[in-house]
Amino acid sequence: MHQSSFAVLSLLLLAPSLITAAPHDTSYTSSPHARHHEPSANVRGRVDNFDTPRPWRRLSDAIIGRIWGLAGKQKSLDTTNRANTNTHTIEEQPEPKLLAQYGDDVVLRFNISTTDEASALAEAADILFLDVWEFNEDWVDIRIAKDVVPSLLGLLPPTLEKSHVALMQDLDLAQAILNSYPSPSATQLHDQDRSYSPTLKPSTPSVKGHPFFQDYQPLSVIDPWMKLMASMFTTHVRKINVGISYEGRDIPALRVGVHATNSNQPSRRQTVLVTGGSHAREWISTTTVNYVAWSLINSYGKVHTITKLLENYDFVFVPTLNPDGYVYSWETDRLWRKNRQPTSLRFCHGIDLDRSYPYKWEGESTRSNPCSESYSGDTPFDGVEAQRFAEWAKNETDNNNVDFVGFLDLHSYSQQILYPYSYSCYDEPPTIEDLEELALGLAKAIRISRKGRPYKVTSACEGNVAMSKDSKDKKERLVLPRIESSGGSALDWFYHELRVKYAFQIKLRDTGSYGFLLPRENIIPTGEELLDAILYLGRFMLGEVGFAADKHTTKTEPPLKEAVEHNEDTEVWERDRDQDQSQFELRRRR
Ligand SMILES: *[C@@H]1O[C@H](CO)[C@@H](O)[C@H](O)[C@H]1NC(C)=O
Ligand SMILES: *[C@@H]1O[C@H](CO)[C@@H](O)[C@H](O)[C@H]1NC(C)=O
Repeated sequence: MHQSSFAVLSLLLLAPSLITAAPHDTSYTSSPHARHHEPSANVRGRVDNFDTPRPWRRLSDAIIGRIWGLAGKQKSLDTTNRANTNTHTIEEQPEPKLLAQYGDDVVLRFNISTTDEASALAEAADILFLDVWEFNEDWVDIRIAKDVVPSLLGLLPPTLEKSHVALMQDLDLAQAILNSYPSPSATQLHDQDRSYSPTLKPSTPSVKGHPFFQDYQPLSVIDPWMKLMASMFTTHVRKINVGISYEGRDIPALRVGVHATNSNQPSRRQTVLVTGGSHAREWISTTTVNYVAWSLINSYGKVHTITKLLENYDFVFVPTLNPDGYVYSWETDRLWRKNRQPTSLRFCHGIDLDRSYPYKWEGESTRSNPCSESYSGDTPFDGVEAQRFAEWAKNETDNNNVDFVGFLDLHSYSQQILYPYSYSCYDEPPTIEDLEELALGLAKAIRISRKGRPYKVTSACEGNVAMSKDSKDKKERLVLPRIESSGGSALDWFYHELRVKYAFQIKLRDTGSYGFLLPRENIIPTGEELLDAILYLGRFMLGEVGFAADKHTTKTEPPLKEAVEHNEDTEVWERDRDQDQSQFELRRRR
């Protein structure tokens, strides 16, 4: 499948006139049947009216169409040959019977306000092998089978029996999962009029960007898309590999930037790393990396600020740090989180890549439980993709004249901008002032420039704990048990080991309405939010905004708006009241 798709793509690059046949003939033989369903001239004419570059537009349609075509084919394969699961012709389309595995599940959000509640919930989740989706200082989201809910409630204090709600109320989980795959209407190749119009019609409000971003895309589309970017924009884009996955896939990346030839360029190339998909099911992180990459690539030479940014900095975009997990989330389990390495337990695969970096690795707590969703492996860097990616980054620094100045690790969900450290709240990062100032600036840029969503700013460790709301006085708030270990994160490693000055983990949309199953209409708005943040980061690094910029412009009122907001927004961390929080751990389990 990969081979044939690459062959076809290179054909398409060489001979654009062949393109129109590609989307609908999945075997690439010229059967008359396939021709019959080829988009007619009027469809192509409409497509050509867009102002994006035509070769790119056509190839994107070819790529998208290929997937839709295969999806249609897969459906018929499923019905005619259900038993034969080993002969998938594609890997992206879930089988209906696999969707059934989620049919009886719900996601519940529990309000947490006391130590008792937190520890009871931690224990119960452990006993019942529950999948903790997300948590922060206010709530914990847990996926659970409906018929286990009574058992769970039975283990919890009476206060928690009431203070929970089901997420995705009007939608059951299986439907939300199905909805997150490319739209079914797009796969209806036998209905020519409807096959393209629902997503391409310019009048649809959601069509604001490229159709590539109308849907989540599988790796088999993303990878050729990246190749295409590099081949179309040779002046400022290169496709590179930042490692090889456990199952042998490349970890693809785009390096975007312009090396001016004048002599006063600094010898070390300042570089910003933007990564997504280290947790497979967080699909919005992958699309957002691609959206930001595409926006910068496409605006170079057209938008002055972006041209300037790319002349001064390189960006390396890694949309799928965990390609094996990502593919698995498309073909087998939409809610898969870890990578796909085998563990000591035969039935539990996968290491949590964001727990397997060696800085403050906390694997002791999960070592005994490879089934945990946050299993850190047996030793630091057990997670193959984490280890190879880190090796790549180190080698770039040591041997390739690269100076990583920024690291944005995108995740979902909860709309938070998190700065180091993740592993502990008791160790303050040496550059905390810069980190907080910039994080608040990023959040503000997101909120203001295009009316994006509100993102909270906090340190990564605080994003991972719950605090009591019992007391009226914020200072009196109790720190509740940690929801799970948070050492060994990419954030801390890049900040501490690689000395990346501006390192953040950003949790994207939403705040729990759909969680990981964020509807595709959010792909572009979320991408724009992060683009705004990255443009702010660029201006900050260039000294155009922020405290340093204010000093230059002789403004004398020192407290920035951001600094004021900070005092209001930041939760008070009450160290003395901490009650042995490390005793409790609410493991992500399935
Ligand atoms: C959870 O707490 C928030 C405020 O902290 C409140 O608005 C909400 O109603 C609570 N939900 C439940 C189910 O108790
Ligand atoms: C390290 O970087 C150099 C320079 O780009 C490259 O030639 C070499 O292959 C890299 N080594 C590894 C192990 O990736």
